[in-house]
Amino acid sequence: SATKKGVYYLRFNSGDNLSKYQGWVKNIRKLKSFVFIDLVDSLTPQIFQVVVPKNGFTPEDLRNITPGSSIQVIGTHSNTIGKTNKRDIHPKEIKLIGKCSQDTYPLRHATIYSNDYLRKYLHLRGRTDLFRSMNTLRSETSYAIHTYFQKNRFLLTHPPIITSMDCEGAGDLFRVSQANSEDSFFREVKHLTVSGQFHLEAIACGNSKVYSFGPTFRADKSHTRRHLAEFYMVEAEVAFCDTIQDVTMVTEELCKYVINIVLNKWDSLQQLFTEGNCLDREKREQLKRILQNPFIAISYSDTLDLLDSLNIDIKWGDDLHSEAEHALTSHFNCPIFVTNYPAGLKPFYMLQDDVSNDNRKTVSCFDLLWPGLGELAGGSLREHRVRRLEGAMSAKFNTSPSSESSLDWYLDVRRYGGVPMGGFGLGFERLLQAMTGMDIRDTIPFPRFYKSCNH
Ligand code: 4AD
Ligand code: MG
Repeated sequence: SATKKGVYYLRFNSGDNLSKYQGWVKNIRKLKSFVFIDLVDSLTPQIFQVVVPKNGFTPEDLRNITPGSSIQVIGTHSNTIGKTNKRDIHPKEIKLIGKCSQDTYPLRHATIYSNDYLRKYLHLRGRTDLFRSMNTLRSETSYAIHTYFQKNRFLLTHPPIITSMDCEGAGDLFRVSQANSEDSFFREVKHLTVSGQFHLEAIACGNSKVYSFGPTFRADKSHTRRHLAEFYMVEAEVAFCDTIQDVTMVTEELCKYVINIVLNKWDSLQQLFTEGNCLDREKREQLKRILQNPFIAISYSDTLDLLDSLNIDIKWGDDLHSEAEHALTSHFNCPIFVTNYPAGLKPFYMLQDDVSNDNRKTVSCFDLLWPGLGELAGGSLREHRVRRLEGAMSAKFNTSPSSESSLDWYLDVRRYGGVPMGGFGLGFERLLQAMTGMDIRDTIPFPRFYKSCNH
């Protein structure tokens, strides 16, 4: 072995066909005649066990090869995976790339840290198996989402992030531009998007079946396990769509397609995450069960009767609180589409159902409730008749429609060759929660929520 400018090189004799392995040391075990270095390889990626013969170096050589440090190994690896789930590397050369001070490294202990603790180190938690697996799950799930839509001939599109539309009218907005001030970029109030739906509708009237998958912002001042201020939403919009079942069908197919792909891949990824895995065995069994049966569809009004029999009293017109949602999903033990909510509970753009005998106004919409989570997705048919939409808008905004000029283009989409449309939005982090059961703050690398925008 030799030292070059503070970098350690350990050299051993080894066979030909040398490969290069670069990664982070997970663990190092010193036994009688060998030292074993567990290496998370960044390129392959997989876990290797570097088998270092003790006679080839002095303890000093290995001093800086500690958990968390990064090394490069030149050597050969065995083709079989041992009992430890790792492939052996027989090194010819080991080079320290980056030291990791054991005095201060927050993840220096081999124990599994609590998720609360790891949230203080968002920039480092990706070194743990749990968060490497979550980041991998995010990537695999994103890929599966795109694959589903592309296979089904949906066109990927990009609604704007900065907008004056407040499609949901539900919560607070993040402003990016103020009105009428000299230094205001747009000279008008603009904010970060809460949903790309209105823009998707416009694009669907031209490309028929479209989807987007991008960041969405809501200034919810709440601390819950399922709300973020910045999250990713999958949205789809279909022109010439005139039954809500067509929308729920796409939503269900998407969920099942994605979960199936992820479960299939996960078996091969399993060996990567030996110390903590976001997709545990129990969850996988639950997901497999969910894949086997159709989701249930039940109207809002029918859920009230059912809830009544479960001793939960909700008056017609009141929203289903989370306890009620939980009771419903537990009762059926599967995902449920609750359809046809009272119009008063939903945004103005939803298509009104024909008014029933009892004069209760409902809309053609659904919320997809997921066991153990609550709302995973929401969708509806859109009001495509200009007069009706104008009526809904003036009722909502308490103005004549023409004075809501920022929404005039939305009416144009109907005025000029408008068609029946339907679509939905699905929270990407909620989908990851549905798959893993983890807190929403642990499904995205750098979570933003009320009073928290660290890193
Ligand atoms: O139900 P929402 O508000 O529906 C819409 O925005 C529609 N315009 C979508 C459409 O039809 N194109 O949001 C859709 C989904 C919710 O079901 C939920 O999964 C997720 O987005 N979501 C959130 N996820 C994380 N943090 C938040 N603060 C969220 N708010 C909504
Ligand atoms: Mg909703």
